[in-house]
Amino acid sequence: MLKKYDTIIYGGSLHAVGIIGIKFIKKNFAKLMDKRLVVFATGASPASDEVIKEIVARNFTPEQQKHLKFFYLRGGFNYNKLPLFDKVLMTLLKWKLKTKKKEELTPDDIGMLEAYDKPVDFTRKSNIEEIVAYVNSCHYNAP
Ligand SMILES: Cc1cc2nc3c(=O)[nH]c(=O)nc-3n(C[C@H](O)[C@H](O)[C@H](O)COP(=O)(O)O)c2cc1C
Repeated sequence: MLKKYDTIIYGGSLHAVGIIGIKFIKKNFAKLMDKRLVVFATGASPASDEVIKEIVARNFTPEQQKHLKFFYLRGGFNYNKLPLFDKVLMTLLKWKLKTKKKEELTPDDIGMLEAYDKPVDFTRKSNIEEIVAYVNSCHYNAP
């Protein structure tokens, strides 16, 4: 079905740095080589070069990285709305963070711990503008 499109944009949320559903794209990567491939991930972590580098490295081989453009969009986190299994996983993470000494906690750790009690939502419709601008610029530059 995707074969008829020139540009494929895939997005999924992060679970333990893995992009949900990315297996489908990776499995069909060879068939998508002639396409403009854009992948975005949403996650609770604040965006930083380090975070983005880790996501890209963990989800794509160096060869795959050459054939796609990646974006990271900060998502939200609402512990109370998680399915049971995810609640268990996130409770384990909370415990792990709580075993750290106070002075070892990074600002991101502190933000994450706070988000367990107070849901956060960084999603904004305008955040997709950078993706739209990228895709449009590719289109106009196309031979
Ligand atoms: C089990 C689990 C693991 C997660 N792992 C990460 C992670 O590694 N990095 C991150 O930034 N956010 C992580 N998150 C946060 C989600 O990616 C974030 O809340 C996202 O916005 C959820 O989007 P969705 O509701 O569309 O799935 C995790 C959330 C859960 C429940």
